[in-house]
Amino acid sequence: MGDQQIRRVLGIETSCDETAASVVEDGTTIVSSVVSSQIDLHARYGGVVPELAGRAHLELLTPVVAEALQGAGSDASGDGIDAVAVTYGPGLIGSLLVGVAEAKALAMAWGVPVVGVNHLEAHLFASLLEQPDLGWPLVVLLVSGGHTLLVEVIAPGRYRILGGTIDDAAGEAFDKVARFLGLGYPGGPAIDRVSGEGDPAAFAFPRSFLAEGYDFSFSGLKTSVVNTVRRHPEASTVDVAASFQEAVVDVLVAKARRAALDTGATALCLAGGVAANSLLRRRVEEACAEDGIGAFLPSRALCTDNAAMVAAAGWWRLRHDGPSPLTLGANPNLALVATA
Ligand code: KG4
Ligand code: ZN
Repeated sequence: MGDQQIRRVLGIETSCDETAASVVEDGTTIVSSVVSSQIDLHARYGGVVPELAGRAHLELLTPVVAEALQGAGSDASGDGIDAVAVTYGPGLIGSLLVGVAEAKALAMAWGVPVVGVNHLEAHLFASLLEQPDLGWPLVVLLVSGGHTLLVEVIAPGRYRILGGTIDDAAGEAFDKVARFLGLGYPGGPAIDRVSGEGDPAAFAFPRSFLAEGYDFSFSGLKTSVVNTVRRHPEASTVDVAASFQEAVVDVLVAKARRAALDTGATALCLAGGVAANSLLRRRVEEACAEDGIGAFLPSRALCTDNAAMVAAAGWWRLRHDGPSPLTLGANPNLALVATA
């Protein structure tokens, strides 16, 4: 397969609670991108219910793909689509399988290659969609509902995992604390919103491992929030939320900044849903300006789950490793492999 032939890739993303499809040209230009969120479906349960997510993907994926194809001037015939890329892990098994089955069926029907994409690698590629000329090496702080990783990207496809969470993911901590405070689901945007009215110095919550290494721990912080509110039922919710957010952001920024300095990175990038947090964005920008390195903060739409990043990563993987076999399956525990 010649590289030149692969121009337009249809990306499919169904690993968690977003059903998404996108057509990306040459790995960098978003031609169409459709994201259908299941937030309303899961909100009443305070979190993603895997069974419901899988069923919703089944219902939503065909119309979402149709809309993405239409936005790219194509249709169910796949005219002008050169390959199909799909997230095959990590994520919820029932949800992943819906995307993988659809991708293989489309690829077979259209006679084009299919390529399985690692969801975490896709998040790393999201930065490149808006800033294709980012220099190397980069440090990416990937913070989502399921993951918290600090990764050195030596070049596309070449990673060194610097650290990760030993318990809750950053977004999970936001979601759990928000639920405890009665702020609703998803918790990150809710805490972000109300924190502006609170005093971030009202409570001194713990900053685990602040000065040591690159690993994170958020479960002690969550417990501390719960204990504090139980001891001080009169405490203002917005003050608790703001103090919690301050503690999370302090740790994320301190470690990401140290990682960038230690590795000689040219820039620090954010990825994943928590990268939409306004305090985190502001602090990263300030830290990078002080340290004289670039700060790259993808737009909120590219931080949260989307299929454009899947198409971009798939395009790159196709060029480097070729297509996946049609026996491609889902791998809920797929890890980001260090290939430095
Ligand atoms: O990347 P994402 O869309 O899905 C995966 O988990 O893969 O991330 C969703 C997470 C949720 O935990 C949500 O609460 C968090 O990102 N989030 C935020 C904000 N927006 C979304 N966390 C903090 N501040 C935000 N503004
Ligand atoms: Zn994600």
